Amino acid sequence: MDFIEFEKWVLKDFGIDLSAYKSNQLHRRIKSLMSRVGANNLDEYVILLKKDQEQRQKFLDFITINVTEFFRNPEIFNEFKLKLKEEITRSKRPLKIWSAACSIGAEPYSIAMILDDISKGVKHNIIATDIDNTILEKAKKGEYSASDIKNMPKDYANKYFSISEGKYILDSKIKNMVSFKKHDLIMDRYSNGFDVIICRNVVIYFNQDIKDNIYKKFSSALNPGGILFVGATESIYNYKDFGFEKASTFIYKKL
Ligand SMILES: C[S@@+](CC[C@H](N)C(=O)[O-])C[C@H]1O[C@@H](n2cnc3c(N)ncnc32)[C@H](O)[C@@H]1O
Repeated sequence: MDFIEFEKWVLKDFGIDLSAYKSNQLHRRIKSLMSRVGANNLDEYVILLKKDQEQRQKFLDFITINVTEFFRNPEIFNEFKLKLKEEITRSKRPLKIWSAACSIGAEPYSIAMILDDISKGVKHNIIATDIDNTILEKAKKGEYSASDIKNMPKDYANKYFSISEGKYILDSKIKNMVSFKKHDLIMDRYSNGFDVIICRNVVIYFNQDIKDNIYKKFSSALNPGGILFVGATESIYNYKDFGFEKASTFIYKKL
């Protein structure tokens, strides 16, 4: 079996489109995963993935890379907080916000805490999505480690978390502000009418065509004047092609 056949099998069996990922990086990563589990070739690896549930989850985790933390890149997040305030003033109604590829929920919950802080009493709508059901279940639980919250402003940590058996338990008020659902940025349809979309540290793994297509769909999903917040290594150089103007280094405004 070659990589093309392997990609077809993964699409059929896992529903994940590996052809969207940057191929050199992906092949290197899969080879390293195979050597860790002692598979000598893709055929052996497929046999293992067919029968071993733990290896299937490891493969999924490895492909999707769900590293995250609250207030990731704190100085950039502060800039986002300012833009969020502007959005609240501009729209004069509750915001519809989408945290795409949200991993274990650190990103949408960071936004929920900011909103609770700056816009008390207003019920904003935060939708958080990811391709991986297992991490969405973890996100819904709202239990974190000390390292997940290391960048969190101290007053937020004290106000919104309690500690039990070394775990940081998120306040149910913040948990209830976010609804989680499964969504694949490559294969699934996008909703629309969003005022804010946050999508950070995932498109970096995709090839340029897929990236461009995702930005096009984000632009259609945003209301005019709405903002797109991207990762710290994901500047969009051709942002004008998608009907955006630059609002700040990693924030784009739909015209
Ligand atoms: C590195 S994490 C980023 C989490 C968070 N956005 C952040 O910046 O901290 C990447 C996330 O993208 C998700 N992901 C990977 N491929 C995806 C896809 N095609 N559609 C939606 N989510 C995807 C992974 O499951 C993972 O949770």
